[in-house]
Amino acid sequence: MNLAIQRDQTEFLYQQVVRLVRQLQQQQLLRVGDRLPSLRQLSQQLGISIPTVRQGYEELERLGMVEARDRSGYYLKAENRPTCRPARLPLSSEPVPVRQQSLLEQFYQAVHQPGILPLGIAQPSMAQPSEKALLRTMRRVTTLAGQQVMHYGPIDGFAPLKRQLAFRYLDVGLSLQPDELIITNGGQEALAIALQAVAKAGDVIAVESPTYFGVLELIETLGMMAVEIPVCPDDGIWLDDLQHALAHQPIRACVFSSSISNPMGSFMPDAQREALVLMLEQRGIPLIEDDVYGELYFGAARGRPAQCFSRKGLVLTCSSFSKTVAPSYRVGWLLPGRFGTEVWRLKRALSFASSLLNQWTMSEFIASGDYDRNLKKLRQVLKLNKERMMALVQQYFPEGTKVSNPQGGAVLWVELAKQADCSRLFQQALQQGISIAPGTLFSPSQKFCNCFRLSFGVRWQPELERAMQKLGILARQA
Ligand SMILES: Cc1ncc(COP(=O)(O)O)c(C=O)c1O
Repeated sequence: MNLAIQRDQTEFLYQQVVRLVRQLQQQQLLRVGDRLPSLRQLSQQLGISIPTVRQGYEELERLGMVEARDRSGYYLKAENRPTCRPARLPLSSEPVPVRQQSLLEQFYQAVHQPGILPLGIAQPSMAQPSEKALLRTMRRVTTLAGQQVMHYGPIDGFAPLKRQLAFRYLDVGLSLQPDELIITNGGQEALAIALQAVAKAGDVIAVESPTYFGVLELIETLGMMAVEIPVCPDDGIWLDDLQHALAHQPIRACVFSSSISNPMGSFMPDAQREALVLMLEQRGIPLIEDDVYGELYFGAARGRPAQCFSRKGLVLTCSSFSKTVAPSYRVGWLLPGRFGTEVWRLKRALSFASSLLNQWTMSEFIASGDYDRNLKKLRQVLKLNKERMMALVQQYFPEGTKVSNPQGGAVLWVELAKQADCSRLFQQALQQGISIAPGTLFSPSQKFCNCFRLSFGVRWQPELERAMQKLGILARQA
């Protein structure tokens, strides 16, 4: 066997061991039941340490691909049962008002209960925290800027940060001036401003189905109605369903994520993004693009924001540092397209300005290179966590469980048998110290009763595997 390790620093060495074993299996050089090369043999062959090879083999064991046999070595296991993806849903016919408050309150209470394993919340930065570098940066900023950071900042945000963000969009082919971007208090404020800039109470907003419950809560609070457009687990909303809904409903605006939807994790190919923008702009309908997970892709490159395909300025892109750095800083931004004046007015009316200290810290964090370094590691860790979590679902959950295969982000969407009740599962899991996000939270018409969202944006620890085992047992009775 001709094996080689690449010391290009982009992948941990033990992950390369995992990849090499997978390659050997694909090339049929290793078959089910075969013994893997011994730790010593592979370490000599690859020129890496025995503990590193062991780490790789243990990872393969976690992924359910190999088994360790006492005093005999590691063996390739039979294929796991295939994982099924959630099925295509029918299009809902009518817009509905959103009423989600009570379950949402219980969900948020659970998230903040001490001692609860937070598998319901999407906080990817927990998988690879950057707090040391961030705190260092923040201290540097307070020394550097002194009193200045205590003042109100400009309404549209800290100019150097706006320049850096505009510059970064050039990498994905989006050319904009810094003044075409406004800083917000997280992605949530960006979404709130965008919605109010393009729609009013009573208007119908098209959302993904399932969709992020924060969007639903906004629609509810603003007295708007939601119409659900089913999402394909692989590549975003079904465009033919959207076309049908546009022909039959008075849709005022859409809120979609073309890069890494939450909770499905789908990723729209460029051609589809372009078709989506064209379809909406031809009808004069604004698209609010929720791009908070855009940087957390697992594929070769970041998806181009739908904004890149806009000809009429009807796309408003919302994003933030909450998923890539830390949510507590509450630094987000909005590219308002042609709605700049209205967006500016709303920002001033709603929160005046965002924290100058936090924006300055983010700006320095980018300038020092720490942001990109951390992001690279975060993507690697999340991708690995995803595979581990999918393997645990396969191992512990009942036969027939379907699970998404997210192309980025930090969550899996799990679908149990039709009759399962995941709101009950949520309560039972809480009693065992585990929080999940029940599926009905993700639909204004309370669909997805048999589904739930499971986060892999966590520090991996043995406790987590035990929790998944418990959750699997509960899922069998749900
Ligand atoms: C899809 C999606 N959009 C927006 C947000 C809000 O982001 P932020 O924390 O930056 O306000 C979240 C947070 O969970 C999210 O998942």
